[in-house]
Amino acid sequence: MTESLLQNETKIHSPPFSEALAKRLLSTYGSPLYVYQAEILSQTLEHITRSIDYPHVQFHFASVTNGNIALLQLIQQAGWGLHANTPGDVFLGLKAGFTSDRIVYTGSNLNRADIQQLIEWKIHRFNFDSLSQLQDFCEYSGSQPRSIRAEIGLRLNSPELTGDSRIGVRPAEFEKANEIAQQQGLRITGLHFYRGTGTNATSAFTQAIDRLIAIAQLLPDWKTLDFGGGFGYPYRGGAVFDWREFGAAITERLSALSSPIELVIEPGRSAIAGCGVLLAKVVSVKWLGYRQIVGVDTTVSNLSVPAVHGGYRAIATWETDDVSRHETDICGNTTYSRDYLGRNCWLPKLKIGDAIAILDSGAYGYAMSSHFLHRPRPAEVLIDAKGDRLIRQREDYSILLNGQIF
Ligand SMILES: Cc1ncc(COP(=O)(O)O)c(C=O)c1O
Repeated sequence: MTESLLQNETKIHSPPFSEALAKRLLSTYGSPLYVYQAEILSQTLEHITRSIDYPHVQFHFASVTNGNIALLQLIQQAGWGLHANTPGDVFLGLKAGFTSDRIVYTGSNLNRADIQQLIEWKIHRFNFDSLSQLQDFCEYSGSQPRSIRAEIGLRLNSPELTGDSRIGVRPAEFEKANEIAQQQGLRITGLHFYRGTGTNATSAFTQAIDRLIAIAQLLPDWKTLDFGGGFGYPYRGGAVFDWREFGAAITERLSALSSPIELVIEPGRSAIAGCGVLLAKVVSVKWLGYRQIVGVDTTVSNLSVPAVHGGYRAIATWETDDVSRHETDICGNTTYSRDYLGRNCWLPKLKIGDAIAILDSGAYGYAMSSHFLHRPRPAEVLIDAKGDRLIRQREDYSILLNGQIF
């Protein structure tokens, strides 16, 4: 059993807004419902932005975590660029108003059609995962009538810094990479580092800086350091990644270099997790001995993280007459054996019709939802200074027929 299945959640979490608002949203838009608060998003973006004083820094939101256009628009309006992992991320980013020069692409295993599409979209900064991907990109760009002036970087694979990862290029391959690029008149100007998602220890990033700079200096044309995402988020009140400490450390080290290096930061979960909750309603309560088994009208297909990674989010309820707390499992509305939204939560006695809030669901929430188990996806709502509004419609069963030929 993984650690997260044994979380023993004795901490009591508070919902982000009143019960009256939760009930109104659920009755207006239906249940289950993703709800995002624009103010929390903008405060988080501002906090991250202000934490890094380095003058040549750019922030790019990693939209793998959340591709809702209304949210992407808020991020774009806050002055951030976009970080794309797939052509689909770029497609959504362009629709949201990010210009192609504000999009950084770091992907893996692109086929020719992907490369062609990204070039057509005029993405100007790519970080490549392997020499063969670099070669394919260079060959394709070399075969084009007009030369392609993309900035090229390499995603680093270095067991000491990136752990045991399939992704990236080893420093010993840099020389060969340079040769490949030069054959097409291109230069490798960037080093991309991704520490691994959800790393809460600030030191895991600060301690990597000097070594990364040394590795980057193996690239004769180095001018950009992309420090990736992976910055942790304090789910269930866990360790907090210290943006200010990280900002001070990276600023000090880069400022000491003889020529200015551009810094790219591409936060995903750390930027957006906290502004979203998934609201659901209790539809069944039973007791297995001392354990409360609560059935809700959502499922791990609406919020896949617990089933895929085993990382439960905190679950909050509103005041009830019951001041005691009981070990509670929150179960989804299917018989799938992993359909738990939370286990060993510490909650009051609940009853049918009560609302629950699955907190910090803004990242890898809707974006990882699927039609596995054939439940249509929830709606999404944004609360901003003007009130609340639907930003994605609830699906109905017709979605399950999409593309089927019969
Ligand atoms: C290259 C890259 N950057 C950024 C991210 C976002 O990561 P996180 O949400 O952990 O910040 C990812 C996630 O897969 C990624 O692959």
